[in-house]
Amino acid sequence: MTRGTRAPKKRPESAVIRDARSSDAADVAALMTELGYPTTPRQMASRLRSIGTSGDYHSVSAVDGDEVIGFVGAMIGYGFECDAPHGRIIALAVKESWRRRGIGTLLVAAAEEWLSRSGAVACIINSGKSRFNAHGFYRSLGYRATGIRFAKAGGPTSNTAMQRTVPRVTTLAGIGGTRRSRPKPGR
Ligand SMILES: CC(C)(COP(=O)(O)OP(=O)(O)OC[C@H]1O[C@@H](n2cnc3c(N)ncnc32)[C@H](O)[C@@H]1OP(=O)(O)O)[C@@H](O)C(=O)NCCC(=O)NCCS
Repeated sequence: MTRGTRAPKKRPESAVIRDARSSDAADVAALMTELGYPTTPRQMASRLRSIGTSGDYHSVSAVDGDEVIGFVGAMIGYGFECDAPHGRIIALAVKESWRRRGIGTLLVAAAEEWLSRSGAVACIINSGKSRFNAHGFYRSLGYRATGIRFAKAGGPTSNTAMQRTVPRVTTLAGIGGTRRSRPKPGR
C-alpha cells in the first residue's frame, strides 16, 4: 500500500456479536491457528460440541456476514480461597485484518457480561509473556498484571521428576514423618 491510499477503515458496526454456533467451527479453527494453536475444522467442531454441553462455558463469535472474524471463550470457575465463583477468558482472537477496530473490546464485553450474569466476581486472563499486543489491549480495558504463570509440559502422571522428589503421604502421621527434624541446639 502506498502513502495516502489507506484502505477504508472497517467499522465494528458492520460486525455482529452473537453466541458461537457449530457452523463457526472452520473459521474459529483458523483463528486458533492464527493464535498459534494449529487446529483443524473437525477438531474445533468436536471441541465446540464438548464445551457446548457444559453450562460453565460460553463461546461468542464476532461475524461479518457469514464469516467469523473474532472469537472469545470464557468459563466460570470455583475456588478454594473464596465462596464466589470467578471467571476466566480462556480464548480470544480477532482476525488480523480486523484488529484495532473495536472487535476485541466488544468480545471481552460480551464475555464479561455473561460471567457477571453467572455470578463471577472477577475475571482472570492468562496471557503468554510474548503477547505484548494482547497485554496492551487488556490494560486498555482496565486489567492489571497481577501474577506469573508457570507451565510444565506433560500431565501429572508423566511428571517423573515430581514422583521422584515428593514423598507419597498417605496418612497424617506421614506428613510429620517426611520432615527432617532440626538439630537440637548444643548438639
Ligand atoms: C488482542 C486482540 C484480541 C485485540 O483485539 P482488537 O479487536 O484489535 O482490539 P480493539 O480494537 O478492541 O482495541 C482496543 C484498545 O486496546 C488497545 N490495543 C489493541 N491492540 C493493541 C496493540 N497491538 N498494542 C497496544 N494496544 C493495543 C488499544 O488501546 C485499543 O484502542 P485504540 O485502537 O483506540 O488505540 C487482537 O490483537 C488479537 O487477536 N491478537 C492476537 C491474538 C491474541 O494475542 N489473543 C490474546 C491471547 S491472551
